[in-house]
Amino acid sequence: MNNVEKSKNGTLGPDKKFKMQKSMQLFSDALKLMPGGVSSNARLWETAVFCPIYTPCTIFAKNARGSYIWDVDGNKYVDYRLGFGPVILGHGYPAVTRAVSAAARKGTIFALDNELEVDVSRQIIDMVPCAELVRFSVTGTEATMHAIRAARAYTNKEVIVKFEGHYHGGHDYLLWSTSPPYDTRDRPYKQSMGIPGAIRDLVMVETWNNFESIEKTVKANHKKIAAIITEPIMGNAAAIMPKPGYLKHLKELCDRYDIVLIFDEVKTGFRVARGGAQEFFGVTPHLATFAKSMSNGYPISAITGQEEIMKLFGPGKHKVTQGGTYASNPLSLTATKATLEVLKNREVYERINVFGKRLMRGIEKVLDGNGIDNVVQGHPSMFQYIATNNRDIIYNYRELKSNYHADLYAKVQYWLMTKGVLLDEDNQECFYVCLSHSKENVLKPTLAAFETAVEKALNSKFKMQRFKLPGTEKLLAPSGGNPNIP
Ligand SMILES: Cc1ncc(COP(=O)(O)O)c(C=O)c1O
Repeated sequence: MNNVEKSKNGTLGPDKKFKMQKSMQLFSDALKLMPGGVSSNARLWETAVFCPIYTPCTIFAKNARGSYIWDVDGNKYVDYRLGFGPVILGHGYPAVTRAVSAAARKGTIFALDNELEVDVSRQIIDMVPCAELVRFSVTGTEATMHAIRAARAYTNKEVIVKFEGHYHGGHDYLLWSTSPPYDTRDRPYKQSMGIPGAIRDLVMVETWNNFESIEKTVKANHKKIAAIITEPIMGNAAAIMPKPGYLKHLKELCDRYDIVLIFDEVKTGFRVARGGAQEFFGVTPHLATFAKSMSNGYPISAITGQEEIMKLFGPGKHKVTQGGTYASNPLSLTATKATLEVLKNREVYERINVFGKRLMRGIEKVLDGNGIDNVVQGHPSMFQYIATNNRDIIYNYRELKSNYHADLYAKVQYWLMTKGVLLDEDNQECFYVCLSHSKENVLKPTLAAFETAVEKALNSKFKMQRFKLPGTEKLLAPSGGNPNIP
C-alpha cells in the first residue's frame, strides 16, 4: 500500500485552533440571499472539510496585502490563489494603488476615448509579439467571445476548435468540455444548463497535445473551421504544459488551412513572461486575449493580434461589433499602465521564477520524502503538484482526471490553511506566485507548512465533523453536481 492509499483510511476534522465560525455564519446568511451563497460558481469549494452540513461552501476574505490574505475570522494566509491568478505584483502593490487612488479623483467613467488607451495600447504592442492593434474589454469572457467573432468574420467560417479541459470564460460558445466527467464519451460536453444545443454544431473538441488527432481533424474539416483556440499552458487543468513543438504544430496547421490561431493568454499573459506564453514558447498566434495579470487585479481585458484581423473591429456597417460601457475605463487602464510599467523590467520575472522554482522543488522533495509519487508541473509562476502513480503520462485533461488523488490534495489543502497557507481546494487550479512572495521571506514557512500538512493528511485520525448552522440544510444542494445537466 503506498502512502496515498493509506491516507484514504484517515478522517479529518477541523483543527481546534483554526477558526471558521464567522465565515460559516456569513456563508449561511449569503445562502439565504444568493443562489449557492456566491457570485461565481467557481468560488464554491467542493471538497472543503469545514463546510456547514455538507459541501460546497466558501470562506469570506477580509483584506489582502503583499503576499498575504486575511479572512473574517482573523486567519492570516500566504496567498497562492491570488484571485485565480491576476495578482502578479502583490496585493495592494503601492505603485498601482497610488496611481488608481489619484485617478479615482479625476472621474471613473467617461464613455469617451482617454489618453490612457493610447499609452496602454503602446505598452502592450511593445511587450507582446503578436500585438499589432489592441481592443479593450472588461473580462476574459468578453475577450475570448470577441476574438472568436473576429476570427469568424475574417475567415467567413463558423466552427471553433477548442480543447478538452481548457476554459475560456462563461459564454455559450466556449463553455463546452471545460471540465467534463473524465469517463464521459460526450464531446462536446455541455458544461451548463441553458446553453443552446444548436451551438454543439459550431464547436469541435480535441484532445490537447495530440499531434495526429488535431491534424486529422483540421484536414477533414478546415473548410468550416474559423479558429483554433487554446490556452498555451493548461491553467485550468493543473498547469499541464504543451509538448515540445505542439503550439508550433497548431500554428503551422492554421497557417496552412486559413484558420485563425487564438492563444487565450488570460492566465499566462504578463505572467509567464513579459510577452506572455507566446514569448516564452516562441510561437506567435494570429490573435491573443489577455486579462488578469495585465492590471494586477483590476477589471480589464484585451484582444490583440494581427492588424489584418483586428482592423475588422473598426468602423463600418459590416464590421465586427465589440465594446461595452466599462471597456477602457480610466481606473482599470491606470492600474494596467502602472502594472505594465513594473513588468517592463525583466528582473521582476527573474525574481518570481526563482521563487517559483524553489517552491516547486521544495514541494516535490516533501512529496518524495513522504513516499508520494508525484509530478510538479507548469511554469514557476503558475504550477501545480499532482499526486499520481503515473507521472509520465499527464499531457491532457483525461490523463489528469484519471490519474490523480484528489482526496489527498483536499486534505493537504485543508491542513495548509490551518498552518497559514492558502491554495485553491481544486487540484485543477494552480499555485500562483507574485513579486511580493519573493520579497517577503515566505518560502521557508510555506514549505514547513507543506511538510506538516502532508504528514497530517497522511496520518490524521480525526473524525470528520462539520460546523452546523441552523437553517442551511434546505439551502444547500448535496455536492456531486446537478443531475439535470447533460
Ligand atoms: C484561460 C482563461 N480564459 C478566460 C477566462 C475568463 O475570464 P473572466 O473570468 O475574467 O471572464 C479565464 C478565467 O479564469 C481563464 O482562465
